[in-house]
Amino acid sequence: MIVKADRAAIAEAGRIVRAGGLVAFPTETVYGLGADATQGEAVARIFEAKGRPRFNPLIVHVHDIESARELADFDERALALARRFWPGPLSLVLPLLERPRHGISELVTAGLDTVAIRVPSHAVARELLAAAGVPIAAPSANTSGRLSPTRAGHVEEDLSGAVDMILDGGGSEAGLESTIIAITPRPALLRPGSLPREDIEAVLGCRLAAPSEGKVQSPGQLLSHYAPRARLRLEAAGALPGEALLGFGPDAPAAALNLSPGGDLREAAANLFAYLRVLDAKGLSGIAAMPIPSTGLGEAINDRLRRAAAPKGSKC
Ligand code: TXA
Ligand code: MG
Repeated sequence: MIVKADRAAIAEAGRIVRAGGLVAFPTETVYGLGADATQGEAVARIFEAKGRPRFNPLIVHVHDIESARELADFDERALALARRFWPGPLSLVLPLLERPRHGISELVTAGLDTVAIRVPSHAVARELLAAAGVPIAAPSANTSGRLSPTRAGHVEEDLSGAVDMILDGGGSEAGLESTIIAITPRPALLRPGSLPREDIEAVLGCRLAAPSEGKVQSPGQLLSHYAPRARLRLEAAGALPGEALLGFGPDAPAAALNLSPGGDLREAAANLFAYLRVLDAKGLSGIAAMPIPSTGLGEAINDRLRRAAAPKGSKC
């Protein structure tokens, strides 16, 4: 399961990522649990493996600034930070370019119109990104609620069996996650991390706002951010007049947009945000969502649906 990160192993890891698998890999901050950010079902596997009860947005790792600019809109401030600190432990939250041009799964961004991106400096992470040739979504490679891993052995203790390969590249130097900065509407510190805020402020020439000052969504608030315009009704047996139906499983009516006709939760998770968007775009007054089992990934799917169904303006 743990494989020394030599050239052959990294090439194999790149193939695994492209085939929709999960690879744990070292970065300079902590070990990441990576999947192809453009494949929804691969990203769903990350949440499944971590046992995360919620779909919080993930950081997308890319090889260089040019690849990052294919995904997000960089203003002058973002470019200045990227040029100074990449490759390195800085994640930038930036406006996502138009879908579907960049191909990033909505499960990565949790349906938001921004994306967190970083270019890691660890040689193994960089070689993996080059070998995979796709952007890699990666949270820390630990199960939900456990400490972030800084060695391949930590990952194995926690996630063996749930990941297809663990690349051993020695210890992570920093041992602390990347610093996360949002740029718009004004530069704000979303998560303190390995890169000190003073270094970032020196490049920007201004103080970083706390998330609320800059009115950016802090990670805790993010989950209530994407809600459809239409009223969402949960545990519905069928659609009432004026409602579109979000189905699940083989028994759903043919008229429903079915998250997974075969009843597969991984497929349902991959389709969730996109399908809510499609139904919302119909302009009907309501969306009726059929029941979804609350086991495995179903817990996070139901959490997302409950938040989308909460009265508008609700913070929880
Ligand atoms: O050092 C790191 O950043 C590690 C290594 C593996 O690169 N990764 C990591 O990822 O810490 P994760 O998933 O544990 O942290 C992602 C954080 C979450 O707090 C999330 O809310 C925030 O990034 N985030 C992601 N996308 C965001 C967005 N569009 N807006 C605001 N926050 C975002
Ligand atoms: Mg983490």
